[in-house]
This record gives sequence, C-alpha cells and structure tokens, in this order.
Amino acid sequence: MRLVLLGPPASGKGTQARMLAERLGVPTISTGDMLRAALAAGTELGREAQRYMSAGKLVPDEVVIGLVDERLSQDDAKKGCILDGFPRTVPQATELDRLLERRGAALDAVVQIDVPRELLVERATLRRTDKRTGQIYHLKYNPPPPEAELVHRADDQEETVNRRLDEYEAMTAALLPHYEKQGILGRIDGVGDVSEVAGRIQAVLGK
Ligand code: AP5
Repeated sequence: MRLVLLGPPASGKGTQARMLAERLGVPTISTGDMLRAALAAGTELGREAQRYMSAGKLVPDEVVIGLVDERLSQDDAKKGCILDGFPRTVPQATELDRLLERRGAALDAVVQIDVPRELLVERATLRRTDKRTGQIYHLKYNPPPPEAELVHRADDQEETVNRRLDEYEAMTAALLPHYEKQGILGRIDGVGDVSEVAGRIQAVLGK
C-alpha cells in the first residue's frame, strides 16, 4: 500500500498516519518530521529549512524531494509507505509519481482530510508531542500522560499557524485536481474523534 494523506496543517494527518502504518505494517514518511530531525541534528539542511518553517512557508521543492527520494530507497519503504505532508505542491506531486515509477510502483490512494479552519487553529496551538516517542497529543482532546516529555512546536503559535493555513490554501489545495484526474482521490470529514476519523479512512481504502 502506497498512500498519501493530504490535508491542512493540524487536520490529523500525523495522528492517522501513525495508526495506519502500524495496522498496515509499512513506515510513515513525514517530511515535517524529517526536517525537524535535521534541525535537531544541527545539519545545514535543517538550519536552512528552519528559516522557511518558522515563517510558516513551504521549504523549497528540491529540498523535500531529495529527502523523500532518499527515504524511499530504504529497505522498509520498498513494500509500501504512508506519506504524511508530502507532496504539498504540484511539482512535488509530479516528481513523486516519477520517483515511484522509477521503482516500478505507483500510489494506490490519496486521502484528503477536511477540517474547518477554526478547529485547525485550536488543534495546532494545543498540540504537544512527546520528544522521546514522537507520540502526538492534544491538551484538550487527547491529553498526554504525566510521564510524557512534551514539546510545543515553534510553528504552532497562532500567528504562524494562520500563515501555514494561508500557504496551504495557496499551494497545496491545488493538488486535489492532480489526484482527482488520476482517479485515486478520496475525501473524508476529519471532524470527530480520532477513531471515528480512522474508520472513515478505512472505509475509503476498503481495508
Ligand atoms: P508538517 O510537520 O508536515 O506540518 P503540517 O502539514 O502543517 O501538519 P501538522 O503536523 O501541523 O498536522 P497534522 O495534520 O499532522 O495533524 P496532527 O495529527 O499532528 O510541516 C511543518 C512545516 O515543514 C511546513 O509548514 C513546511 O514549512 C515544512 N514542510 C513539511 N513538508 C513539506 C513539503 N512537502 N514541502 C515543503 N515544505 C514542507 O494533529 C494536530 C493536533 O490535533 C494534535 O494535537 C492531535 O492530537 C489533534 N488531533 C488529531 N486528530 C484529532 C481529532 N480527530 N480530534 C481532535 N483532535 C485531533
């Protein structure tokens, strides 16, 4: 199974990707997590990406395409993957089609998670992540256990979240026709609890 989860910032892509990956036995490929890991490791790429991320802007296409190309070559990704946060622009989507084709593969499905903007701001600003496990929590909807070591993402301040949402509407929403044309796009309502949303994704995928 090769699946893309699409949706605006904080729509629940990361949460659902982790659950799906466990169920389907394939890795998640999250460009946001990879860029944050590069920054934490103090690499040049991480520092360069941070300039865009902290401004709520997209990192240049060639940077993220390079990361995904490298990740797709690793053994665990050969049997499939859940892509979370990539592609985000039409050139990234076109390049992903090519990267998979070169490996004799193709996307099986693309699922767009729809959530209204006012809920997205609340989901992002109250998000916390456990830095040891990467587990995603929410102070209101999915409170962390007391032992979690919580991180509040720098780009989850309200002003930056709003800029990320504007960037999504300007750039990423244009991907929908690309996948509609390929006949692999499914859309689901992302409002509801995490297991309800997971059930809707499962229904679209038929597995
Ligand atoms: P990235 O890390 O990909 O951020 P994003 O797409 O903005 O998505 P988020 O991680 O904010 O949210 P999510 O949809 O995964 O939601 P989550 O499950 O955490 O990218 C960050 C930055 O990196 C970008 O701005 C850009 O600069 C750069 N970047 C990354 N990829 C790039 C690319 N391909 N090209 C260029 N630049 C790129 O959930 C959110 C919160 O809601 C959590 O607290 C969660 O617990 C809660 N929640 C989840 N589901 C529910 C539910 N059903 N009900 C209630 N709460 C819920």
